[in-house]
Parts: sequence; C-alpha cells; structure tokens
Amino acid sequence: MNDSFARRLGIEHPLIQAPMAGSTTPALVSAVSNAGGLGSVGAGYLEPQAILDQAQAIGALTDRPYAIGLFVLPDEFDADMAAVAKAREQLDALMAREGLDVRTSLPMRWAPRASDQFAALCEARPAAASFAFGVISPTQLRALHERDIYVIGTATTVAEALAWADGGADAVCVQGAEAGGHRSTFLHDAEDAMIGLFALLPLTVRALAAHDRNIPVIAAGGIMDGRGMLATEVLGAAGSQLGTAFLTCPECSAAEAWKRDLPQVQVHQVTTIRGFSGRAARGLRNRFVEAMPEAAQGLPYPVLNALTAPLRRAAAAAGRGDLLSEWCGQAASMVRPQPAAELVTRLMHEYRLAKRELAH
Ligand SMILES: Cc1cc2nc3c(=O)[nH]c(=O)nc-3n(C[C@H](O)[C@H](O)[C@H](O)COP(=O)(O)O)c2cc1C
Repeated sequence: MNDSFARRLGIEHPLIQAPMAGSTTPALVSAVSNAGGLGSVGAGYLEPQAILDQAQAIGALTDRPYAIGLFVLPDEFDADMAAVAKAREQLDALMAREGLDVRTSLPMRWAPRASDQFAALCEARPAAASFAFGVISPTQLRALHERDIYVIGTATTVAEALAWADGGADAVCVQGAEAGGHRSTFLHDAEDAMIGLFALLPLTVRALAAHDRNIPVIAAGGIMDGRGMLATEVLGAAGSQLGTAFLTCPECSAAEAWKRDLPQVQVHQVTTIRGFSGRAARGLRNRFVEAMPEAAQGLPYPVLNALTAPLRRAAAAAGRGDLLSEWCGQAASMVRPQPAAELVTRLMHEYRLAKRELAH
C-alpha cells in the first residue's frame, strides 16, 4: 500500500477508526491505536473542556498516535424562533404519540463554539486532526502545523478534495455515498454529492496528480472488511477509514438498541436523512424517519440537531431504536461485534490474506 500517510504518522496499519461524534470513547480510540490503527475522537458535539478531558483519558490509555475530529462551522447560528416553536410542538406531539416521556427544550446554545473547540484541539495536541463540513482557514492550518498535527480534510467530491489540497491538508479523506453518518459536503447540494467510492476515489487520485498535489487519499464508505481495504488500495487509496464497522464494538458508546439493529439492516432500508439534525446523514429508515414532523424537516443544522438531542437520548435510554438516529453505512449488516483490538487484527489479517490470494 502507498504507506505515506501511515509512515508519516508512525502507525502500523493504514486503518483509521472514523471520528464518530457522539459514539466514540477513550476506550475505543485507545484500543484501535494500541492495535496499530489510528483511533479518532468524534469531538464535533463536545464542549472544549470535554475535548481536553477525553484527550487526557486517551493519553492515560495509550502513547500511540490518535486523531481528533471536528466540524468546520461558524461560532454562532441564528434560528427562526417561530419555526423552532412549531417544530417543537410537532416533535413533542410525536414523542407523546409514541409513548416516550420526553419533550424538547431550548438549549443554551445550538452547538459548542467552533473556535473554542479548535483551541482545545490545539491544546490537546493529538497526532492528527480531521475535519468535516468545510475547509479550515490558513491561520488554523498554521496553528496545527506549528504543533506538528497532521491535517486530514474530508471531501465528498473531487472539487472538495482539491479545495482541501489547496488549503494545505496533509491528506484528504474521500467520503463515498455509501458512508454512514453525516455527509461532509460543503461546496454542493448534498444530493449532487452522493458519489460512490468506486468513482470518487480514482477520480480524486487522478485529479490530485493532475494538479501536482499528490497528498495521500484515504477511502471511506462501506468498507467493512480487509477485502474492502485492499479494494481501496487497488484504486489508489493510502488508507481506509471505517466507521460503521466499529459501531458494534463493546467500547463504542452507540446505544444498545442501535448495536442490536445493525446486523439485521437490509441495504434498501439505509437512506439519507435530514430530519434528526438538519443536515443530510446516512442511517436506518426507522419509525422516527417515517413519522418525522414536517415543521422539523425545515430546520437547519445544528438547530434541529440540538432540539432532537434530548429526544434521541431518551429513546436510547428506553431501548427505542426506532426513535433514535441509527446512523450507518450501506454495508451495515456486515458488522462483526467484537472488541476493537480484535477487529483491527482481524481486518489486517483479512487484508493480507486477500492480497496473497490476488497475487496467485
Ligand atoms: C455514527 C457515525 C458518526 C459519524 N460522525 C462523524 C464525525 O463526527 N466526523 C466525521 O468526519 N465523520 C463522521 N462520520 C463519517 C465517517 O467519518 C465515515 O465517513 C463513515 O463512517 C464511512 O462509512 P462507513 O460508516 O460505511 O464505514 C460518522 C459516521 C458514523 C457511522
């Protein structure tokens, strides 16, 4: 494998456990890093102090490289409060109909302040930082490079990959349409940026070479085993980023109902959903998605995300997988529930086996 990215970071395997906001724990991140991959904290929803606390907890569990993943967002958001009130009314009515004893409330802020999160990231000083939803500023890039932090930008189109390359990223992670969780799309409408990894990956590798910007490309979306990792290598990837595959690890904090549902997911039930957060994200079409109130669907990210957060927490606590955001990639039913370190070892064993078989 073009091992430029793994070599530069000093990791044994070209394998990243995706930053999954709301679902990663220090135990998961450190287990992956200790097993030779790159564990990543999904820090997008974390307040700055929580980012520092998680970094400290990980530091106590591993001295291997790990990453912190953030969203590129403005510090403040405006909301149409009349639309918010209407959405709350309809969401509360839905919860009452479904027998869940929880109601929406107005949060203090719609999302943590992005610039404070970024300052915490700099202070935590992980080996790598990865970003979704936009490109960081030249000042931010400089701040990261001054601290020797390796910068990975997420792209869902070739244009976005080039924007990250122009912005000075050390590597770009291409997120195919198969991928679970939020679409990182920032230059296009989400519907126009649903590009399968088999098209996006070689197109990106070719475009970066044509622009003389041969930064490593990391592949994400629907990769669930070592064969998938090898397939991305054949198409020019320097590494693979897996999210859904790690959701059923015991160290992952995804709700138990969600973990239970994943092995049974039929691929036609995996769809693009805006109704939980206000941003396009891939997950399971469940009861909430089917019954989603119209007023809620009109609210943007992160306003809707903040409103539904307590509802999703209550659904998780009540074991109601049908009412929480069960993010997953298209190949979700290929999950293998097992401890993260074992999964990393298994993935790499499969990868080597598949490579040997191909050579014969
Ligand atoms: C539950 C979940 C949460 C995610 N959260 C983030 C995130 O916070 N930041 C990010 O860059 N990507 C996030 N992603 C997307 C992953 O980085 C990656 O693109 C995706 O998991 C790859 O597809 P797969 O799930 O089929 O492996 C998330 C994915 C999942 C499944």
